[in-house]
Amino acid sequence: MKQYLKVDEWSIIEESFDPATHEISESIFSIGNGYMGQRANFEEQYSGKSLQGSYMAGVYYPDKTRVGWWKNGYPEYFAKVLNSTNWIGIDVTINDTVLDLANCEVKNFVRELNMKEGYLSRRFVAVLADGKEVQVEAIRFVSIKRHEIGAIRYAVTPLNFSGTVKLVSYLDGDVQNKDSNYEEKFWLEVDKAAAADVSYLTLKTKKLDFHVTSVMSFDVFKNGTKLDVQPAVAEREKYVSSEVVVDANQGETVAVYKYVANVTSRNFGLGELVEAGKKLLADAKAAGFDALLKEQVDGWAAKWKESDIIIEGDTSAQQAIRFNIFQLNQTYDGSDDRLNIGPKGFTGEKYGGSTYWDTEAYCVPFYLSTADSEISRNLLIYRYKHLEKAKENAKKLGFTKGALYPMVTMNGEECHNEWEITFEEIHRNGAIAYAIYNYVNYTGDKSYLGQYGLEVLAEISRFWEQRVNYSADKNKYVMLGVTGPNEYENNSNNNWYTNRIAAWTMEYTLEVIDYLKANESARYQELVGKLELKEEETKKWQDIIANMYYPYDEERQVFLQQDGFLDKELIKVKDLPQENLPLNQKWSWDRILRSCFIKQADVLQGLYFLGDRYDLETKKRNFDFYEPMTVHESSLSPCLHSIIACELGYQEKAYEMYLRTARLDLDNYNNDTEDGCHTTSMAGTWMSVIQGFGGLRVANDELVLRPFIPSHWTSFSFKVMFRDSRLNVSVTDENIIVTNETDVPAAIRIYDSSYTVNGNGEVKVERATATK
Ligand code: BGC
Repeated sequence: MKQYLKVDEWSIIEESFDPATHEISESIFSIGNGYMGQRANFEEQYSGKSLQGSYMAGVYYPDKTRVGWWKNGYPEYFAKVLNSTNWIGIDVTINDTVLDLANCEVKNFVRELNMKEGYLSRRFVAVLADGKEVQVEAIRFVSIKRHEIGAIRYAVTPLNFSGTVKLVSYLDGDVQNKDSNYEEKFWLEVDKAAAADVSYLTLKTKKLDFHVTSVMSFDVFKNGTKLDVQPAVAEREKYVSSEVVVDANQGETVAVYKYVANVTSRNFGLGELVEAGKKLLADAKAAGFDALLKEQVDGWAAKWKESDIIIEGDTSAQQAIRFNIFQLNQTYDGSDDRLNIGPKGFTGEKYGGSTYWDTEAYCVPFYLSTADSEISRNLLIYRYKHLEKAKENAKKLGFTKGALYPMVTMNGEECHNEWEITFEEIHRNGAIAYAIYNYVNYTGDKSYLGQYGLEVLAEISRFWEQRVNYSADKNKYVMLGVTGPNEYENNSNNNWYTNRIAAWTMEYTLEVIDYLKANESARYQELVGKLELKEEETKKWQDIIANMYYPYDEERQVFLQQDGFLDKELIKVKDLPQENLPLNQKWSWDRILRSCFIKQADVLQGLYFLGDRYDLETKKRNFDFYEPMTVHESSLSPCLHSIIACELGYQEKAYEMYLRTARLDLDNYNNDTEDGCHTTSMAGTWMSVIQGFGGLRVANDELVLRPFIPSHWTSFSFKVMFRDSRLNVSVTDENIIVTNETDVPAAIRIYDSSYTVNGNGEVKVERATATK
């Protein structure tokens, strides 16, 4: 773990260039706007190690599955988010020397991700082989107001000589995915034209025919004056460029403004792409770089107004939490209900850029509290739209009814291809059901249940109904051959969490049925018809709920992660020589599976989701038993432990876990940030501040707060949206102050007392009295 980034409240800053950490920085300094995003690759050529990555949300390739041993039920393909046209490229040649930071001395390098204003900048002095020094200043962003638009200002100044500066601005679609299964290139050229004013390139993906058109234009300035230059244009396969050569005296700055519009066939007809791109580009160019940047700054100010967290007394924690919020807002903005949140967002290829249970279990709470409820509703509807595919998936695996949502998906079809996960890590179905509960509980929007919710819940309950079987030996329902959230156990029987979430899904489904029967009887009847819901089914669910088997250790009074867990040698991670960690890099799979070590919250995942059903003593016993055996080798793990530790009053542990999650990528904690950032777990980090230190829950239509301040902080405050109001919660040593920033009153509870925060009003409670 190398900490090389400067600590700053609002920016991520790198103050020298080190090729060894460049790929990590490419991930960390990524930019995105929900519609497209990219790694922080350089504009100019770079021959050193780099992972090229420019992604268009929802544009993917179904790469033919590659597995050692085929199992019936495996999917045909793995959906990959595609590295698409490199639209940032600007080759720079000084006299006859190509600027390439791998081949020159780099001085005064500063790279900054300005999170407050939403742009990436870089400046440096390059000392070329012949001693010539040039200063470069580059700034770029992808617009959050005009999703298709990206803009770059790239300025070159000869410092100790006069000469020529050649700038070649290009679009290059001859790109590859590093994770291509068969070393295949996924793009085909459709059309292109390079012209002095506007050039474009249209590519399509193999198989699915996604079309992407990139249109570019650029202006050149010398010392602030626009030059009337006629660029030389060039074309080759999947490539167009415009070149200018400018004489620059020592100290004169040559600046290129490059504007690009990227449009896709997801949003435009094939015949419209070029014209649509040209129109969007012309509008952006007419507005100009400064106006676009101003829009960007204003747009981000609005986002921060809804989602900022302020931590006083700990700049490192402040930077980290803003980084997490920034990356989440860059990845998904809810404006397109066909999209979702890949575990790496727009920062890398790993995990295919597809949807995992991470969305429902970790990301939904973030969007519920920091954005209009429409956005989390869209995330739920995304799964509703995949219901038919989830039913097909269950059928494919031999179930006669019900739905099994995929472990990994792009369009509703399963993409994952390891049997112990694809077929067995079925707890994901429970998270999808839980997200419906979470949404309705948080927003109070019960209309969702009749419109969409019950259909999903009923089909998931039907799946569980068949996935359990009655054990005559135990006289209980059991669930065999599953993988729980802890992927360091496979094919186990009676994973407590999976059994619990399955029974809970059935309970909640029955509750929703009762609600609809009583409150929306016409819609209820309609749904009974549509679902062909039978009384014998609901009776069966009741029976399973009443007779589900839950492994339990009477002596320790803890839930057992699975049958036979106590046969393991129970060792604490702290007693394991450190050179064994991380286990997933140091141990054989066989050794991991036989050990007691836990990858991520499993029993504790259940105690978190169903937190209102278990008392503190139960949570404490289970936390004390399992956490010491947990290696937290999934980035989703520490945040959840931090939240439960807060509830138990384990303040130091909570903070330790928080630090592990908050600076995971900034400090490259898991030694894998070069592959991309852990975007979905960033929502978990947010949860650990709001639900952990803030103690936020929603119960009985009230927003409940039970805050404490970690000893390393002097105070903290955060924003949450709750039922059409936006609240600012500020926690200091003395007080908890909840300020309503809207006209809509909000019902809140601070510890055990209820209050109404009137529109634009405030509730202030002394901490000393509040906790008594
Ligand atoms: C975790 C899963 C998670 C996936 C994607 C895995 O390492 O164990 O729970 O869904 O990463 O983030």
